[in-house]
Order: sequence, then C-alpha cells, then structure tokens
Amino acid sequence: MLTAEDKKLIQQIWGKLGGAEEEIGAEALTRMFYSYPPTKTYFPHFDLSSGSDQIRGHGKKVVAALSTAIKNIDNLSQALSELSNLHAYNLRVDPVNFKFLSQCLQVALATRLGKDYSPEVHSAVDKFMSAVASVLAEKYR
Ligand code: HEM
Repeated sequence: MLTAEDKKLIQQIWGKLGGAEEEIGAEALTRMFYSYPPTKTYFPHFDLSSGSDQIRGHGKKVVAALSTAIKNIDNLSQALSELSNLHAYNLRVDPVNFKFLSQCLQVALATRLGKDYSPEVHSAVDKFMSAVASVLAEKYR
C-alpha cells in the first residue's frame, strides 16, 4: 500500500508537471496504442494518429482524473466512483489494459522528468496507478 512517503513523492512529482498535463496524457495514450495495439479497439471512434485533437483531449481528461485521484488519495474509491462505473459497465474495458496505460504513463513521465523520476518516485507512481486500476476494476464482479 501507499506509504506517507509515497504520497508525498507523488504530490511533488505531479507539481512538477507545470501545465504539461495534456501533453503527458496524450503521450501516454499514443505509447499505449503503439505498444499495445489491441487497446485501439476501445477507441474506434477516435482519430488515433499521433497528436490528434481527440488524443490530446482525451489525454487531458485522463490526467485530470489522476489529479483528482491524487487530491483524494486516501479516498480513491469515492473519488473515482463515477469513472469506475463508466469503465466497468459502459466501456467494459478489460482490466489488463490498466496496466498497459500505467506503464506508458510512467515512460511518458520518466522521459519528461529525467533524474527527478527516481527509483523511489517510480515505485510510488507504480503503486498509485495500481491503486487507481483496482478502483476502476472493482465493479466488474
Ligand atoms: C473515458 C480515465 C484507463 C478506455 C475516460 C475518461 C476518463 C478516463 C477521465 C472520460 C470520462 C468522461 O468523459 O466522463 C481513465 C483513467 C484510466 C483509464 C484514469 C487508468 C489509469 C483506460 C484504459 C482504456 C480506457 C486502459 C482502454 C484501453 C476509455 C474509453 C473512454 C474512456 C474508450 C471513452 C472515450 C470517449 O469516447 O470519449 N477514461 N481511463 N480507459 N476510457 Fe478511460
């Protein structure tokens, strides 16, 4: 589980994104579509070419949701409840895909933050994304 130190590191690193949220989100999505092509099947209605308006718009939404999650890090289930309903009941995203997006987000963060993306931060973000993924998947049963 996330320790107090993990939470502090996540808040710090998020504070360093400084307005690059849309870009980070779009890069994470683009990486996911390239590296895990079956994820594209959930977005048949999107223009999936790199940097498309839809990818940018969606990237911004995903990162905004993660920012909300960080603000409510001790109460993720409640903070992400609507999103959990959407992914489980409406979109029916196979939970395996959450790991793919998490991986790709981490690469996007690491390339942008360089040395600031230390092993400790990496581990904290990984735990945070696992916690988000389990909330998004908790309504599947
Ligand atoms: C929609 C967040 C993972 C597929 C959304 C929205 C948000 C979001 C904020 C927009 C909701 C709205 O408009 O009300 C997240 C977060 C994720 C995640 C935080 C994990 C960290 C995934 C994954 C997939 C996926 C792994 C599939 C590979 C979709 C699709 C939509 C959507 C298809 C609807 C897009 C549209 O038609 O505009 N997600 N998502 N999501 N998500 Fe996710």
